[in-house]
Amino acid sequence: MKVIIGSDHAGFSMKSQVKTVLEDMGHSVEDVGCHSEDSVDYPVYGKAVAAGVARGEFTKGILVCGSGLGMSMIANRFVGVRAALCNDLYSAVLSRRHNDANLLVMGGRLIGADLAAEIVRTWLVTEFDGGRHQGRIAQLDEV
Ligand code: RB5
Repeated sequence: MKVIIGSDHAGFSMKSQVKTVLEDMGHSVEDVGCHSEDSVDYPVYGKAVAAGVARGEFTKGILVCGSGLGMSMIANRFVGVRAALCNDLYSAVLSRRHNDANLLVMGGRLIGADLAAEIVRTWLVTEFDGGRHQGRIAQLDEV
């Protein structure tokens, strides 16, 4: 799978760990930055990742900021992007099964590295249920 990832300074450490998890799973990873813990603006990196997913160049995207909130806000402004803020495993499962989320967001200041790794692994292998959920996600892009 081609996965594009990004973070701001508050998510930099978790993004580095996520990158290792993805590579260990055998995915191809594009990291748009940031590349240190120096303060940056989250919309810059959120836009880069969401645009890559919206254009269909990447199957999935993953974003990390401090809370996950800012990254969710910017990513969901892109038509075709379904960004899900998941700081727990059950949200990660449901975001795939019911919402066909194509972009995972996590809060680097809210959860630990081990949980984040498990969320990423679970989110990437969980399939969309389709069925009654298909028409509902289609309605998202009509707005
Ligand atoms: C950075 O301090 C913080 O505001 C940012 O990482 C994020 O949590 C914004 O939503």
